[in-house]
Formats: sequence, C-alpha cells, structure tokens
Amino acid sequence: MTQYDVIVIGAGAAGLFCAIEAAKRGRSVVVVDHANKAGKKILMSGGGRCNFTNLDITPENYLSANPHFCRSALNRYTQWDFIGLVAGAGIAYHEKELGQLFCDNSAKDIQQLLLSELAAAGGELKLETSVTKLVALEQGFSMNMASKPVQCSSLVVACGGLSIPTMGASDFGFRIAQQFDHEVLEYRASLVPFTWNNKDKEHWSALSGVAVPATVTSQTKSFSLDLLITHRGISGPAMLQISNYWQPGESLTIDWLPSIDVAEQVQQDRHEQGKKQLKTWLAQYLPARLAEFFVEQLKLQKTLAELTKADVERLATHLNQWQFNPGGTEGYRTAEVTLGGVNTNEVSSKTMESQKQPGLYFIGEVLDVTGWLGGYNFQWAWSSGWAAGQVC
Ligand code: FDA
Repeated sequence: MTQYDVIVIGAGAAGLFCAIEAAKRGRSVVVVDHANKAGKKILMSGGGRCNFTNLDITPENYLSANPHFCRSALNRYTQWDFIGLVAGAGIAYHEKELGQLFCDNSAKDIQQLLLSELAAAGGELKLETSVTKLVALEQGFSMNMASKPVQCSSLVVACGGLSIPTMGASDFGFRIAQQFDHEVLEYRASLVPFTWNNKDKEHWSALSGVAVPATVTSQTKSFSLDLLITHRGISGPAMLQISNYWQPGESLTIDWLPSIDVAEQVQQDRHEQGKKQLKTWLAQYLPARLAEFFVEQLKLQKTLAELTKADVERLATHLNQWQFNPGGTEGYRTAEVTLGGVNTNEVSSKTMESQKQPGLYFIGEVLDVTGWLGGYNFQWAWSSGWAAGQVC
C-alpha cells in the first residue's frame, strides 16, 4: 500500500501551488489529475499570456455567500508575494491595464515555474490518473489511484469548477464535498458572454464585430468597460464582469454613450448642427454601423432640427438606458469560472480545512469564492493553495 502525507486532486493553479508549499515543509506529496497536462487553464489563460494576478486585490473583488471568507488567505499570501516569485524566476511581465499583470512571453512561463518548484520541493505529479473508491479512515483517507490502493493523511480537493469541460473540468470536487456532507451552493457558468434572445438575434447579429466602450448595469453592480457584439450575443470585458452579478431572467441596462447625456447633447448641438442627419451626428460618438442601426431601429431618419421632444426622449432612453434581455449565457463551454460551489461556512478561512472532516481541504475555484475578471481568480488559487499548503 502506497502512503503519502498529502494527496492533492487537481493539478491546476491551486493544486500545484498547495503541493509546492506542502512539499517544501517536507511532506510527501502527490498531485493527481485525470488530464494529460498540468495547468491547462493556466496555458490558455489571458489569451496565452496568463493574467496571473492584479496589483489591486481587495476582498471586494470577490463574490461569495460569505464575503469575508477570502480575507485571511488574500492577506497572508498577497499579490506581492506571487509577483516576487514570478520576478525572482526571471519571468518578464507587464501591466496591461487596470492593474492586470500578464507574462511578456507566454503563460507557459507560469506553468513551468510551478512545475519546476514542485519538482525542486520533491513533490510528485501523476497525470492521466483517476481517483476512485475514496473513503475516510479513522485517520486520513484511502482511495484507488489508477486502480491501485493508496492512503494519505491529508486530502486536498483542488478540482476547480465546470468551465471548459474539454480541458478536463468535472464536478468531482463538488461530489467529494457532498460525500463528506458539505453543502454545495448553487453554481453556474460565469465570467461568460451573454446570448441574444430570439427577437434581438434577428436584428443584432449583423453588427457582429462592433466594439464600443459602454456602461453595463445589473440590479446591484455597474461596469464601464468595452463590450463586443458577436453573432451569438454580447461579449467583452464589461459583459463578462457583469455576468458575475447577473441573475438568470434579469435584464441589464446598457449605456452605449456613458460619457454623454444624449438628450442634453442633442439640445446643445441642434442649434449649430441642425441640418445634420441624426445618423451622421451619432457617428461622431459611435461606430458608423451602430449609429445607422440605432437610427433604423428607432425609425428616426431625420435631421437634428427635425427631432421632436418625444423623438429626443426615445433616442436618449435607447442610447443611455437600453434594456438588454439576454437569452442566457454561452455556459460552461466558454465561461472562465464557475460561480458558487462548496459553502465556505463549513471550511476554515485560515487553513481551508473542512470543519466536517479532519484532514480534508478545499482550495481554489471549487469553493464558493469567485473573483472579477483581471487576475483575481488566479490570485485566489495562489492564496488559498498557499494557506492549505502551510498545514496540510
Ligand atoms: P483549475 O480548473 O485550474 O484546475 C482543476 C484541475 O482539476 C484541472 O487540472 C482538472 O483537470 C482537474 N480535475 C478535474 N476533475 C478531476 C478529476 N475527476 N480527477 C482528477 N483531476 C480532476 N483567471 C485569472 O485570474 N486570469 C486569467 O487570465 C484567466 N483566464 C482564463 C481563461 C480561460 C479560458 C479560463 C477557462 C479561465 C481563466 N481564468 C483566469 C480563471 C482561472 O483559470 C481559474 O480560476 C483557475 O484556473 C482556478 O484554479 P483551480 O486550480 O481551482 O482550478
């Protein structure tokens, strides 16, 4: 019977980081993954350059039923700690925007950093290996790994969520949690593009490829960032961010001209630009295709001077407060994260250890902690993995 101190299930960002920390403490550690490569999501993240953290990490950038849960780990292993590790390894990086740090060369630099740190600390990695027959012993756990029995004293669940099933995502982490009587809060695809409802699709898909800065507002939150019209719906950073706060069935308000009060601007400009077609006037502020589309939709093929008070009101509402009723989202196929997951009220925020089953730990995305777009989710993986790695 093979015996380890620590078995980590899931060789993603959180699992690898936890294993490194535990192995550095002299624990015998193995990381198992059913995929054929470690850190597949790291490799595909940030358009292949991995947005590995953010300069401005605060608990307010995370969603959870227990908003304070993430505080301790984020304070103890900070973005500065991870930046120090990256810089110390000689990996070149840069801030793209909004504090988001990306590798200059390739996300592979981060994956290789983790793998070399794991090897240097003496940790093992087993790929294309499945775990079955997991049971708790009086002390520790036993399971089959690639059909061979193994035991460990600490078991770390780092299986992530359901996004991108083709990359190895599974609900195994949630099932392990339930096996040990943990509550798994309702979960869904997030940081995800929205899809058109049938009615909008017909009109809007011709605008595919148009990108504009806009403000998107849900019932609780607003983001002013770029959005992108696609064949399937609306994507872009503004939409991905708001998807964390959107509830299925809700509508979103889009301000297509966030820096302009349309009604006021029309009143101002109609004196000097009264003869201008509305379409031409609008194209000063919006991409021409979009300007033309709005004018057609509203049937306002008029000059500025010809617009009635009611026309201006309709135009202003349409541009500054457009109501978008999404058909839904693109789902796990393209979502960056799974929102929801293992209830953090039953897990120690300091160590990530289960309060129901000694020796069992949950880290990373499997927990009900979801960050904003922009490096926040990887920082949660590093911080929660580090916290468990100090004690497991
Ligand atoms: P992760 O999903 O990384 O790892 C889980 C591991 O468990 C996987 O290797 C999987 O194969 C394994 N596993 C699952 N089921 C198993 C089973 N039954 N048996 C064995 N192994 C199993 N975040 C960010 O901060 N910056 C960014 O730039 C991006 N970009 C990005 C792009 C795309 C396309 C996606 C999909 C996601 C991002 N993210 C991101 C989010 C980020 O990738 C994510 O939050 C972390 O990878 C979560 O790390 P975990 O280790 O918790 O799970």
